[in-house]
Amino acid sequence: MEIPKGCELAAPNPFSLLIFGATGDLAQKKLLPALYQLGFHSLLPEQFFILGAARRKLSVERFREETRAAVQSAFPAEFEEQKWRMLAEKIHYSPIEDNLVSSCNSLLADCATLEKKFGTRQNRLFYLAVPPAAFEPLISGIGESGLKREGSGYTHIVIEKPHGHDFESARRLTGLLGRYFRQDQIYFMDHYLAKETVQNILMFRFANSIFEPLWNNRFIDHIQITVAETVGIEKRSQYYERAGVLRDMFQNHLLQLLTLIAMEPPSVFEAEKVRDEKAKVLASVKPFPLAQGIINDWAVVGQYGPGTVDGRQVAGYRDEPGVSPASTVATYAALKVMVDNWRWNGVPFYLRSGKRLARRRAGISVHFRPAPHLMFAGALEGNILPNTLTLRIQPHEGIDLFFQTKLPGSRLCLNPVIMDFSYPEPFALDDYARILLDAMQADQMLFVRADAVEKSWELLTPLIDKIESGVRPEDFPNYAAGSEGPAAADALLAKDGRKWDPL
Ligand SMILES: NC(=O)c1ccc[n+]([C@@H]2O[C@H](COP(=O)([O-])OP(=O)(O)OC[C@H]3O[C@@H](n4cnc5c(N)ncnc54)[C@H](OP(=O)(O)O)[C@@H]3O)[C@@H](O)[C@H]2O)c1
Repeated sequence: MEIPKGCELAAPNPFSLLIFGATGDLAQKKLLPALYQLGFHSLLPEQFFILGAARRKLSVERFREETRAAVQSAFPAEFEEQKWRMLAEKIHYSPIEDNLVSSCNSLLADCATLEKKFGTRQNRLFYLAVPPAAFEPLISGIGESGLKREGSGYTHIVIEKPHGHDFESARRLTGLLGRYFRQDQIYFMDHYLAKETVQNILMFRFANSIFEPLWNNRFIDHIQITVAETVGIEKRSQYYERAGVLRDMFQNHLLQLLTLIAMEPPSVFEAEKVRDEKAKVLASVKPFPLAQGIINDWAVVGQYGPGTVDGRQVAGYRDEPGVSPASTVATYAALKVMVDNWRWNGVPFYLRSGKRLARRRAGISVHFRPAPHLMFAGALEGNILPNTLTLRIQPHEGIDLFFQTKLPGSRLCLNPVIMDFSYPEPFALDDYARILLDAMQADQMLFVRADAVEKSWELLTPLIDKIESGVRPEDFPNYAAGSEGPAAADALLAKDGRKWDPL
């Protein structure tokens, strides 16, 4: 698709990028390949460098070799030796110790040398791609050392998820960051927000006039938000056994999608104004009525047992390496969420996400109310299904509108049809490339603000505590890998006379 003049992405100003955790899975599979992709699309300036840091003692050459292999495996078709060499000469590595303030001071010395060499004007972007336990010591290390000292350029810090483990730890994290960094320097990362189709939600809603008048409780019956995965926990049992699906997916991706679909139009399309409106949605979400003791009306959790996914036999969660054989960690959850404001009063938002489900699918479906007067009742056999608008986030990114037409040639028969818009080609940039570009250009639109991080934890922490204290080992597994999830999730909607969209 030809990008019109003025709409193209632009290369950022000279920068230095310090990746903490540069030898890890995320840095090697996502961040460093994303930088190659930016270079490939001429979206890097002449002057920049990447300084990787981790505790492993590695030579720069070895680090470059490992990174080259990672980039090649991420983008085999786009890999070009000459483009790689241009990036490789900007890649450096410094091992650090756990004594982080002194490590950060020695990193500062390396950074200052490289800044002179590459002329990066002290524009520093820190990316924390380390395990959550290392976040706080590293933030203090960066803050207490000279690394954070403001020079003539900017200092931005990107924090990978998870942003805390519960409300208390999230507040500690935001508080610690606030001690050393201003809000405009802090970038809480949710790579879902960088997906083209997620960014499109706001364009679709607010750049068209035909949908927004219907976007309220007069016309909408309910909304479903689904993020279904076919993968299991891969090699991340240590993290997942502590996190589970509600912390891993709902606190961030699902609640962020909810804010985009439910927010009011901001007066202007600016990061702070958009983030203000998103925060208002989270503040309007009705707390789960836990005191009434009927959690099943609001939340269902599950854990996968063995089964077949994509024609392949796979193990149950408890048989995954590193998982306790009696684990009560949830790999699936479905929630009913009510947004208590004028626009959404009485409209349930059903959110679900799980691992090892039948299909990989992420999307939002807006289910409209039936036509107010069914004049065809009696004349037609069967029910007239109401309109549904589906925003497909992945795969097959696009938008579907489901509506009724007359079956051509019939006496009086309905022909339900789907009007389908699909994005014509794969997107040029990966989510992480876009995120890095925005963080370098001080654009916080696609990042979560500290108040939203805290608010979403405030909402979910009591629910998670209640669920975790109530689940018994014999309750799980309660869905087979490769299925659509636990039967109790269907019951959650059936109680309201509704059904999930098929995966
Ligand atoms: N992997 C993903 O797909 C993914 C997706 C979303 C979010 N995340 C988040 O990204 C972060 C990194 O995940 P990962 O999967 O890449 O983990 P990982 O593979 O275990 O890598 C962790 C990296 O951090 C370094 N590290 C560990 N402790 C450190 C410390 N105290 N100081 C400095 N460096 C330290 C490790 O190297 P040394 O041990 O040599 O220091 C390694 O380079 C986590 O917070 C994770 O939740 C990951």
